[in-house]
Amino acid sequence: MNANNWIKSPKDLGSASACFVRAFEAAPDVTGGTLSVSAVGLFEARLNGEKLGRGVLTPGYTDYNRRTQYMTYDLAGLLGRRNTLEITAAPGWAVGHFGYNGSGERHHVYSDHYAVNAELTLCHDGGEREIIVTDEAWQVFSSQVLFSDIYNGETLDLTAHMDALGHAVKDPDSARFPLIPQQGADVTEHERIAPVSTFVTPRGERVVDFGQNMAGYVEFNMEAKRGDRIVISHAEVLDKDGNFYTENYRRAKNKVTYVLSGDRDVVKPRFSFQGFRYIRLDEYPFETVDLNGMRAVVVHTEMKRTGHFTCGHDKINQLYHNTLWGQKSNYLDVPTDCPQRDERMGWIGDAQVFCRTAAIQYDVRAFFRKWLGDLRADQEPNGAIYGVCPCQFAGTYKPRISAAWGDAATIIPTELYRAYGDESVLRDNLGMMKRWVDYMHGAGPAEYLWLGGFHYGDWLAMDAGADSLVGATANDLIASAFFAYSTELVVRAGHILGEDVTRYEELYKNVRRAFREHFMENGLPRAEFPLTEATPPGHEVVDGVRRGMTQTALVLILHFGLCEREERSLLEQKLVELIDGFGGRMSTGFVGTPYIMHVLTAAGRTDIAYRLLFEERNPSWLYSVNHGATTMWEHWNGIKEDGSFWDRSMNSFNHYAYGAVVDWLFGVTAGIEVTEPGYRGVRLCPRPDRRLGFVDASVGTDHGTVAVHWHYRGDMLCFVFTVPAGCEAEIVLPNGYAETVREGTYHYQIKA
Ligand code: BGC
Repeated sequence: MNANNWIKSPKDLGSASACFVRAFEAAPDVTGGTLSVSAVGLFEARLNGEKLGRGVLTPGYTDYNRRTQYMTYDLAGLLGRRNTLEITAAPGWAVGHFGYNGSGERHHVYSDHYAVNAELTLCHDGGEREIIVTDEAWQVFSSQVLFSDIYNGETLDLTAHMDALGHAVKDPDSARFPLIPQQGADVTEHERIAPVSTFVTPRGERVVDFGQNMAGYVEFNMEAKRGDRIVISHAEVLDKDGNFYTENYRRAKNKVTYVLSGDRDVVKPRFSFQGFRYIRLDEYPFETVDLNGMRAVVVHTEMKRTGHFTCGHDKINQLYHNTLWGQKSNYLDVPTDCPQRDERMGWIGDAQVFCRTAAIQYDVRAFFRKWLGDLRADQEPNGAIYGVCPCQFAGTYKPRISAAWGDAATIIPTELYRAYGDESVLRDNLGMMKRWVDYMHGAGPAEYLWLGGFHYGDWLAMDAGADSLVGATANDLIASAFFAYSTELVVRAGHILGEDVTRYEELYKNVRRAFREHFMENGLPRAEFPLTEATPPGHEVVDGVRRGMTQTALVLILHFGLCEREERSLLEQKLVELIDGFGGRMSTGFVGTPYIMHVLTAAGRTDIAYRLLFEERNPSWLYSVNHGATTMWEHWNGIKEDGSFWDRSMNSFNHYAYGAVVDWLFGVTAGIEVTEPGYRGVRLCPRPDRRLGFVDASVGTDHGTVAVHWHYRGDMLCFVFTVPAGCEAEIVLPNGYAETVREGTYHYQIKA
């Protein structure tokens, strides 16, 4: 691919898409060929009318300034004598409304126009190659996609004439976008979901319910009069009166319009996607809604499902289902925070929190190979990692740098190594991991602590007033705890790779010591210490106090090993007290929640972890299940007890972060613990609870499936463990019986 071959339309079509066309002949001795295509914007390539590849939203979402992917298609069997190549391009992430660019308009983040670059290689019998590239010989036509935008939706007019706009124009401006081959897996279409019902709301809106919140789009298959229109809006939830609710989309319009041809039409957006469960038929050609004529198409990165979990408790099954759908909805080329509002960005804190669960549920290797490349590319020379990746550097906007978000750089490679046992993920990323730690080392006024500056803190925690976006835990404490943890992860990775990490070993000791001196006293976190943090408007705690003695602080100290062994029981006892003091519930946000259950289990208080799991009042996992959630919510109480909503400015119903509890369901409830990376060694140590009745859990690995089943029968507990070849398992039963086994299926019965 050549940086000089970018072309654009001779006419600026704004948000409408254009079709770049090239006819060519393939001589009789042509045996095959390939086509490589990229776009700044999005493209869809067709050869002789046939769409190339299964991928949608190509070439995917990257920081185009640093890396712009091209896709390569094999043309075997598709070439005729006379051929027509069509590349339709649209604004997409790079050009349309997206992210932040400091202008408030959030438009043209990477470029003010879309451009395409293609290289067609025809292979002749004798071995010679003929190359056709994008240049002024290509013809440009207007397309029937009259409007397309990631946030705002799409308009497809099948009655529109495709006008010839003239020859393509060379676009040297786009030569600044470095081209790289596709790095990961395609984004593809998955389930096609039939609607479950249609109804009219009290406000008189005609609504269709697909029964599942998701990311994707609605496909219609119908015949109507030429020029008839379908106009749909999307929503995740209905309000308490049963009306269609779109305010939490903020400025994302998510509106899709189809103008039908008069024949049977199958229509769907080509360069946009929506996050939704419901659609409202703003315009529809018939009195009766034809539910057979529409399907919601689920769109996400191609990943193989690996984890399965079912139990005898419907609400926990629903919780599991919701986390699975959280991942399906938010693993769309990058790990997004949410798929619906004017955000959908690669928020790295969310990605970090959820990645262990993600790697249980699906094989996410290819997904993260690409995205960790994005993260490495975006790291500043001083090691800084911004909170959003791919990062948007356009305009005046620079994403912020925050502890627990930047630590995605160390935590995600560590988790992938744990799940798949492939050292290359550590080798590829150790440089980035070290640089992130070096950045923290120099980030604040103290050498071995990260004090001051902006942080997202224990985002959305509940202990700083019900309406606070940030929890009560002192940011200095969180930042310094993650500084220690990330340094430890660098040391561990270095040892695995056989690298000299003495400098980080020393650093770890110093950070841990400094943490203990500054934040702890008599084995407990200090309640008060001088705060140096900056809290911009909206990020201050509602009750005005940041503290060291919070559930999240205790969880971090325990989970990251920042305490001595003999201090653990006091800290654990304090954690239990704080849970009791919070009405028997957790008050943790994004930072504390992924670990609290594991910390309780390590403390021998799995009983309390189960209490949190089965809790139904706010905040709890089952609160949203009881309120009809089909995906994880951003807030514990996105819909409040009285049916009203959390503030529309930050209220997604499809944010996977709190779904991180699934790694505890697998690791503790089912008891599948990884002791050797890639499930080469496991400890199968289920902690059953009678309220669950039974559990069936399995994880597909490269060498077979690890599975745990248990159920209660009267006063007996029965277990079945399946251990694949190449895996050594230590089976540990609740009565303390333990044995080490290899490939096979093992049955046990003990007194419950
Ligand atoms: C996102 C979060 C993200 C956060 C940073 C929000 O707008 O939706 O999930 O991590 O900003 O605090």
